[in-house]
Formats: sequence, C-alpha cells, structure tokens
Amino acid sequence: MEQPVKNMRVAVYPGSFDPVTNGHLDIIHRAAKVFDKLIVAVLNNTSKNPLFTLEERMELLRQSTKDLTNIEVDGFRDLLVNYMKQRQVHVIVRGLRAVSDFEYELQMASTNRKLSDEVETFFMTSTPQYSYLSSSIVREIAKFHGPVSELVSPEVEEALRTKFPSPPNKI
Ligand code: COA
Repeated sequence: MEQPVKNMRVAVYPGSFDPVTNGHLDIIHRAAKVFDKLIVAVLNNTSKNPLFTLEERMELLRQSTKDLTNIEVDGFRDLLVNYMKQRQVHVIVRGLRAVSDFEYELQMASTNRKLSDEVETFFMTSTPQYSYLSSSIVREIAKFHGPVSELVSPEVEEALRTKFPSPPNKI
C-alpha cells in the first residue's frame, strides 16, 4: 500500500524583486504547482539602493500573487542558507532566463552548497517571452514613462506610476 506523504514540500524563491516582474511571477506560478508551499523571500540588501523599500516590495509581491493560496512572502537580511536553516527549508528555486544567467547561478548554487550541504537548488527555465526581462529594465522604462503593462502586474504598474509621476503636459 502507498504511504501517505508526510512532509510538505516547501521551497524558497529568493531575490531582490525591485520590483517583481511578470518574469518572476511566471516562475512563482509554476513553482507553486511543484511545491506544496513556496516562500518568496525578499532580500533586504543594504548595499543596493532599491527603488522600492523592503515593505513595498513585499506588499507588491503579496498583491501580485493574491490568486495563489500556497505562497508566503517574507523578508530576510542574512546569508540565504542561514535564513533557510531558521525556516527549516532545504530547497532554493531560481529562474534561468538565458545562458548568461548560468555562470552566476552556478556560482551561487555552489557557494550555498559549500555553506550548507542541506541545501539544494532547483532551476526552472523562464518562459521564453520573459527571457529578456529584468527589474532594472522595468525601472528604466517606467522612469521615462514608457509602457510597462505587459511586463508587470497592474499593482506594480500603479506603484511605478506613483514613483515616476508623469510630468505636466508642455504647452
Ligand atoms: N524574470 C525576470 N527577471 C529576473 C528573473 C526572472 N525569472 N530572474 C532574475 N531576474 C532579474 C531580476 O529582476 C534582477 O534584475 P536587475 O538586476 O535588473 O534588478 C536580476 O535578475 C537578479 O535578481 P535576483 O534574482 O533578484 O537576484 P539578486 O542577485 O538580486 O539576488 C539572492 C539573489 C537574493 C538570491 C542572493 O543575492 C542571496 O542569496 N543573497 C543573500 C546573501 C547570501 O546568502 N550570499 C551568498 C550566496 S551567493
């Protein structure tokens, strides 16, 4: 007889998410089908100068994933492996957009494995339509009031409009 599955399959999807893009949401939606629970962990990286505060980035992630029931949005400011130990999670999910991501991701996965042999990294390839997308591209387009509706959720689009209000029409 088949044994019931005792342990929930939980994974962490870490990143800066400044802001979350449709590329991230593609990975989140697909990973949420593979794992019982996905913790989206937002890095509070003090060395970067983010456009959105940690709280704003977390709130935008919550709003953009409100249709998913097995997502938790959390923040961390530690080594990822320490955060995972504290949360008792052993799986990291990362998205691979293109070959150019591979070297950095391999380095990061190997470093995390060196720091903790309990941690495994699972890579998911991006859906091709998002393979060019990054948060900085979105920020750049929004800064010059270009269209971002196909790149981010409506909530993020609205938040970007607030950060970069349109200049009054020139006469
Ligand atoms: N779709 C769209 N964009 C994506 C993406 C996807 N699927 N995957 C990555 N990106 C983009 C991000 O938007 C971001 O773009 P930007 O640089 O233009 O802003 C870029 O790729 C990298 O972002 P992200 O995935 O958020 O990674 P990161 O380098 O900011 O952070 C952490 C990676 C948080 C996982 C890593 O820095 C970390 O674990 N830090 C904690 C400290 C630590 O443990 N260090 C040792 C491990 S090496």
